[in-house]
This record gives sequence, C-alpha cells and structure tokens, in this order.
Amino acid sequence: MSTADSREIGQRPTMDRNLAFELCRVTEAAAMAAARWMGRGDKNAADQAAVTAMRTTLNNVDMDGVVVIGEGEKDEAPMLYIGERVGNGLPPEVDVAVDPIDGTTLLSKGLPNALAVVAIARRGSMYYPPGIVYMDKIAVGRVGRGVVSLELSVAENIRNLARARKVDPQDLVVVVLDRPRHEHLIRQIRETGARIRLISDGDVAGAIMAAMEDYTGVDMLMGVGGSPEAVLAAAALTCLGGYIECRLWPRNEQEAEQARANGLDLDRILRMEDLVHDDDVCVALTGITPGELVGGVRYTGRGARTETLVMRSRSGTIRRIVSEHNFEKLTRYVDAPYAQSAR
Ligand code: FBP
Repeated sequence: MSTADSREIGQRPTMDRNLAFELCRVTEAAAMAAARWMGRGDKNAADQAAVTAMRTTLNNVDMDGVVVIGEGEKDEAPMLYIGERVGNGLPPEVDVAVDPIDGTTLLSKGLPNALAVVAIARRGSMYYPPGIVYMDKIAVGRVGRGVVSLELSVAENIRNLARARKVDPQDLVVVVLDRPRHEHLIRQIRETGARIRLISDGDVAGAIMAAMEDYTGVDMLMGVGGSPEAVLAAAALTCLGGYIECRLWPRNEQEAEQARANGLDLDRILRMEDLVHDDDVCVALTGITPGELVGGVRYTGRGARTETLVMRSRSGTIRRIVSEHNFEKLTRYVDAPYAQSAR
C-alpha cells in the first residue's frame, strides 16, 4: 500500500507514506463535531454531526476507500454505510472501518471513553459478517498472545494469562460490558478471584485498554459486543501487538438461520488475522469524552484541543498527538462546521 508512493534509494524506501497521520485529522474532526453534544442526551444528533465531519474529512484523503465496517445497522443511526466509497479515489485501494462515535450513550451522558475511530487496511482484508450484530470476544495484550482462546474455559483463560504475566488471578482485571447477557460470565470470572471492571459501553476502548495493560491496568476484555467494534478492535490490536479472538453471536434462532443461509460458520473461531488480514493496518482514534486512553475534546478560547492515538502495524509505531485547533483560521479556508464557535 505504501511503497508505491515512496522515495527510494536502491531497494529500500527511505520515507513511505503513513496514512494513519491523515486519519488523525479525520477522527479529530469527528470528535470535535461530536463533543458539542456531550451530556445533551441526543444520540442521533451527535452521531449525525460526527458522521458528517468524518465523511467530509475522509473524502479529502488520497485513497480509494470502501467502507466495509460502518455504523448504524444496529440502531438505524445516521451512517457511513457499508459499501460507501470514501477518499478522493486515488490509490491505494483500501478497506475502511469507521466508528464516528464508539459510545454514543457515553457521550450523550457525558461519561468517559467515547471515541472517534477509523481503521484502514488493504482492499479485501477486513471481515464483515452480514446481519450478525454481535460477536463473543476475548482480547489481551502482547503477553496474552497464544495463551488465551475462546476454545478454553473462562477459568483456563484467566489462569493462563495470570501465569504468562507472572501474577495471581486476583491481580488481573477483566473488562466486561455491563449487560444481563454477561451474568454467567461475570460469575465465572469472580469464581477465579480475578477482578472485574464493568463498563456501560465502549468495548473498542475496552479491548484497546487490555492491549495497553501496563498503561491502563486492564488485562483482558471478555464478553459479547458489537461486530463492527470487533473488527475495529482487531485493527488496533494488530498495531499494538495484542490479540483478539471472536465468534459470531446470533441473537436468536432466526438470525442464526439467516447466518447459516449466508454461508457463515457459527462455530468458527475468528482469529485476529481473520478479522483484519494485512501487514499494513493504520488506525487513528480521538477522545471525545475524557478517558484512560486519550483525553477528551477541550474547547479553548481559540478553538479546541484534541488527543489522538495514531498507530500503524507495519512499523509498530504508536503516536500520541495532541493538537491545538484554531477555529478562526480553520473556517477561513475549509468547510468545517465542527469548528464553528459555540458562542
Ligand atoms: P454505539 O456507540 O454504537 O452505541 O456502541 C456502543 C457499544 O457499547 C459498543 O462499544 C459495543 O460493542 C456495543 O455497543 C454493545 O452493544 P449493546 O449496547 O447492544 O450491548
């Protein structure tokens, strides 16, 4: 993807293009648009603002993108829909996964960890299970690679991860979405002695926290969450060197039957590389509300301050970019509704 436009000395590129930097501007714009709606209880207006900002900025990126993972199927939110072409049509050809707001409820209530996220990878490399809203997930950091799996029991996974991290199960923290469907899972985790961090929403952030365990104090994510979020998490964990495994989780027999009719295997374990299969994955995520991974959008007298994690799997570089946006200057030369002053 990136060598085509690289400057070369002999055979080795000296400086290739890292699309993640351009994605940073996309998630910054979505976050600034969404953050205006923090705590205002209107999820759809927030989503609409974030989607519009994301679409406009994505279309300025030099790429021929197709949205493979879009939002909205689950709750009919305004969406960047699956199959939509994004970018300005120039190479490279890429798959695009978007979540203009992961955690719309978090945002509408002003709670931590709402994020704007985008990932790209080579065309045809992202997995999309039509009609399957949820997946069962297990996600860990680098140390957990090769020691946890959905094929093992909850207790085995916790024991194995504790051994790999050279700690006791009681030292581990497992993130779980706080949902009635997880009652049994929560009981099983508690029986091992491991501690639990229940989150009300936002399992992309949850999976990434598990992959940045030294930084966040979270060791593992377990449980059922959205399918689009699984692919976005897989893209981020590919960059971070973590690991995620998933299995399709139909909500009822009708959904299961439809999935089988579509040729999907409901028993198959989807490994990280089944979800995103590329050696040059780029991800950007910007905080909308403040959280453990990144700070939220803060409005200043002149504009806004944002914090973004920018990652690329090929180099393994993770950057934390704090940007100061000057709304007066921005609005002089770009159409940026997110940069209108609230005053
Ligand atoms: P939205 O931002 O689309 O509302 O998703 C938030 C989220 O918590 C995801 O992070 C998670 O994967 C999914 O919803 C869980 O779905 P549900 O709320 O239906 O259990």
